[in-house]
Amino acid sequence: MSVLVLGGAGYIGSHMVATLLAAKRDVVVVDNLLTGHRSSVPEGVPFYEVDIRDKAALTEVFEKEHIDQVVHFAASSIVPESVEQPLKYFNNNVYGMINLLEVMLDFDVKQIVFSSTAATYGVAKENPIKETTPQNPINPYGESKLQMEHIMKWADQAYGLKWVALRYFNVAGAKTDGSIGEDHPTETHLVPIILQTALGKREKIMMFGDDYNTPDGFNVRDYVHVMDLADAHVLALDYLAKGNDSNQFNLGSANGFSVKQMVEAAREATGKEIPAEIGPRRAGDPDSLVASSAKAREVLGWEPKYDDVKEIIRTAWNWLQKHPNGYEDR
Ligand code: UFG
Repeated sequence: MSVLVLGGAGYIGSHMVATLLAAKRDVVVVDNLLTGHRSSVPEGVPFYEVDIRDKAALTEVFEKEHIDQVVHFAASSIVPESVEQPLKYFNNNVYGMINLLEVMLDFDVKQIVFSSTAATYGVAKENPIKETTPQNPINPYGESKLQMEHIMKWADQAYGLKWVALRYFNVAGAKTDGSIGEDHPTETHLVPIILQTALGKREKIMMFGDDYNTPDGFNVRDYVHVMDLADAHVLALDYLAKGNDSNQFNLGSANGFSVKQMVEAAREATGKEIPAEIGPRRAGDPDSLVASSAKAREVLGWEPKYDDVKEIIRTAWNWLQKHPNGYEDR
């Protein structure tokens, strides 16, 4: 089975490529390198610097390479940015997806696993969130991913294109050997910001809002390790290869941690002081997002290996200590 990984030079994509290679799958990577890093893709893996919105260039990749299945990570994914620039999100995420599906159908490639998100649920009516919990996004990022899910549904009905949407909760951590990790051009995510503070690269971490409807007033999120997430994608590819129907799964740990608890866990994991201050709320943040991953465990047989948030933080800390300035090709 040959797998095309779109966004394979990005944070989650690069961990997916490593996992696929370890599972002895053939891999082809496409990435526009706007946020990804060429050096995160191992030597010998066919790599194309292509934007998925560029139909001619994407078509060439499908002409040159034999592709059986697609894993799609190539999307914009920063919640606050999406509130300020919604059209960027609909263009890259929704239009990009339509373009990709058209090219896949041209080449009769009909299996795709793609990144959806907890952000499609908005302020969820129940916690932990199940796949059947109503989806009412409160930011353009979540809205764009929900539209992508809907497009998939109709594409399946019309063309028999089979898909799995994996709704990630908060992804963190790095490959245990510290060879690849999280490095965004402008960092907005909690765990890397906390750890950059631990390393002395930032003076302090600002905790956005202490008046949420949660036990300690800080936002609660469900943190899942990036390698566990990659394992779930391989299981989803196998699920489709067996001829199963399109489906969607939450990927989280069922354990919520508040921003404050994360700072405290990072202090323990790193042994560093990590100065923290309370700041105003950030736009687009729901109070609490915690997953029920029972369905992924039952249907896909997913067994996440990291159930301790401190362990997750330790792997990210290992990467950062080895690469204090991230990848060298920035
Ligand atoms: N936060 C802070 N200070 C910071 C950065 C973040 O307090 O400097 C808080 C946020 O307000 C939020 C939590 O930490 O409550 C997590 O924020 P992130 O920016 O790390 O992650 P988000 O929850 O906004 O979004 C992430 C992914 C999305 C995904 C979502 C699903 O980036 O793609 O998780 O829960 F949709």
